[in-house]
Amino acid sequence: MRRPALTFKVRRRGLSTKRRRELESWSERWCIDLDGPPLDFDEVFGPERPSGRGVVLDIGFGHGESTIQMARADPSVDVIGVEVHDPGVVTVLDAVENDPLPHVRVVHGDVIALLARIGAETLDGVRIYFPDPWPKTRQHHRRLVRADVVGALTDRMRVGAELHLATDVADYARLMRSVCDDEPRLAGGVVERPPARPITRFERRGLDAGRTVTDLVYRRTP
Ligand SMILES: C[S@@+](CC[C@H](N)C(=O)[O-])C[C@H]1O[C@@H](n2cnc3c(N)ncnc32)[C@H](O)[C@@H]1O
Repeated sequence: MRRPALTFKVRRRGLSTKRRRELESWSERWCIDLDGPPLDFDEVFGPERPSGRGVVLDIGFGHGESTIQMARADPSVDVIGVEVHDPGVVTVLDAVENDPLPHVRVVHGDVIALLARIGAETLDGVRIYFPDPWPKTRQHHRRLVRADVVGALTDRMRVGAELHLATDVADYARLMRSVCDDEPRLAGGVVERPPARPITRFERRGLDAGRTVTDLVYRRTP
């Protein structure tokens, strides 16, 4: 069987020796492994975690601006950020270690592999902001927001949990909408930009190029 194509670009941008050492040491403290048994969030976030706290999955956080700022603004919800590229991962780990952000954990890898560790109806939110656009028609199959991924994320969302998507690519926004509209357990659509979502450098680049940003919010229904 052919494996589905990767949804991210493989990049080999090196880190300085110091940053590499920090990545290794902070990863041991704050990263969740891709492989392993289903996650117990009380274990992941530690013994002090108040019971009943929500967990949000922040997928493909890039340089981590929105992950860090939103976690700082709302310490009442636990966050698992997922990213494949080292520079963004070490930036978020730096904030977790030194800001500090004790309610944030990081997964350094492909979210699709992580999904096997997340139990059904355990997430209170999922964020996918500016996923890689894969603009050429022959690349569209690499887009992250597609029916099987949205179905798998919906399985893992509690009833009432929010899926928040944003993109500055018009035809990706249409695709997001049709994929989510076709998922019978989701209800929602295009919304005004929520003020809680910070502007990242990816978004700034799109705005500077004259592109329009679309936010979509869907909720899991019973
Ligand atoms: C265009 S950037 C946007 C970053 C950030 N969300 C923002 O709004 O600034 C998309 C990011 O998603 C990451 N990504 C793509 N597919 C992913 C996957 N399957 N698992 C984890 N991260 C992924 C890429 O590495 C990239 O950093």
